[in-house]
Amino acid sequence: MKANIVLLLLLISITLVSANENSTKEFIDGEVLDTRCCYWPGDFLVFRDFNTFKVKDDITIESNDAEILPKFKSDKIEKVELNSCFVICGFCGCSKNDSNIHNLPIKLNEVFPNLYAYVVKYTKVKRLKHKNFKNLNKLEYLTIEMSLVSKINDDAFDDLTELKALSLIYNKIHNLSPRLLKNTLKLERINLQGNKITNITKEHFGHLTNLTYLELSINKIQNLDSDVFETLVNLVELKLYENQILSLPVGIFDNLAKLEIINLGGNQLTTLDDNIFEHNNELKKIWLSHNKISKLNIKVFENTRKALIINLQKNICIDHEFGYSTASKPLSQYDINKLKNDLKNKCS
Ligand SMILES: *[C@@H]1O[C@H](CO)[C@@H](O)[C@H](O)[C@H]1NC(C)=O
Ligand SMILES: *[C@@H]1O[C@H](CO)[C@@H](O)[C@H](O)[C@H]1NC(C)=O
Ligand SMILES: *[C@@H]1O[C@H](CO)[C@@H](O)[C@H](O)[C@H]1NC(C)=O
Ligand SMILES: *[C@@H]1O[C@H](CO)[C@@H](O)[C@H](O)[C@H]1NC(C)=O
Repeated sequence: MKANIVLLLLLISITLVSANENSTKEFIDGEVLDTRCCYWPGDFLVFRDFNTFKVKDDITIESNDAEILPKFKSDKIEKVELNSCFVICGFCGCSKNDSNIHNLPIKLNEVFPNLYAYVVKYTKVKRLKHKNFKNLNKLEYLTIEMSLVSKINDDAFDDLTELKALSLIYNKIHNLSPRLLKNTLKLERINLQGNKITNITKEHFGHLTNLTYLELSINKIQNLDSDVFETLVNLVELKLYENQILSLPVGIFDNLAKLEIINLGGNQLTTLDDNIFEHNNELKKIWLSHNKISKLNIKVFENTRKALIINLQKNICIDHEFGYSTASKPLSQYDINKLKNDLKNKCS
């Protein structure tokens, strides 16, 4: 089976691989290897097309290496892809176990001065350094997913002043330096799902006031300071599911007037402050399932009149989903009454 896959990959790569500017266009139009089918929630690029340069998937990068890049300079390439994904008869497979990529290349900016998107998936890259991203001052999308990144140098992203979306999902990041995103002031979307992050403070994201999407799901966060989201006034989606959050400080969401989606499922919450969503009048989707809620006042939902779904499944005093996430209208009167009754009778 393995041998067959290798053979097929070989055939595929013959059609794919050629570091010659005239053939790069073929990569886009006739895409044999379509990584877009390997969709992950962190993939901000999934619906967009770019002139793409794909690094051979059987390449070995042991030390930081510029050799894998073409020798010519190309200002037409907008996206670089580096992964170990393949498509065989419509089946898409990726495995970082098969990857020989241990480092990211250097001098990318010298070969591709107009790089706009950089996507790395399913590699064995462990460390990110400044020289891997040097002078990439047009880069807007950076994705380094499903790899082994555990250490990111403080200055690694210092040159990424145009960055809009950053995804580092499913790596092994446990300690995020508060200095890391100091220059990426244009960030609108951050996804750090599936890491080992324990501590997030205002210093990490507080200065990124254009942030609309922040995801820290599937990490190890236990405590959040009351000011951690204070300045993120443009936030629309906040996803914190599957952490170990024990309680939420009073006022933690008070400045998030645009918040529409909040996911706090799979934590250790036992109750919520009555006024926790007092200023979040735009909330449409509220996930609180799989917590340990044993006490909850109906006042919590007094101002969330636009809610389409309030999911309280798998809690101690309540196990029910009110409304549904694909609904186009707010909760029905029936659901509202049931919510009121259930909270009053079971959770007070
Ligand atoms: C690319 O195409 C142009 C014109 O179509 C040609 O002049 C040039 O030699 C080609 N370059 C390579 C590297 O094949
Ligand atoms: C990859 O390697 C790890 C550790 O050696 C193993 O647990 C895992 O099952 C492997 N995954 C695949 C898809 O082979
Ligand atoms: C934030 O977004 C606004 C509106 O799109 C824009 O005018 C402003 O320049 C952005 N801020 C930064 C730091 O990019
Ligand atoms: C969290 O990080 C901040 C600095 O970013 C530090 O001051 C604080 O002590 C840390 N808290 C914990 C619980 O590690």
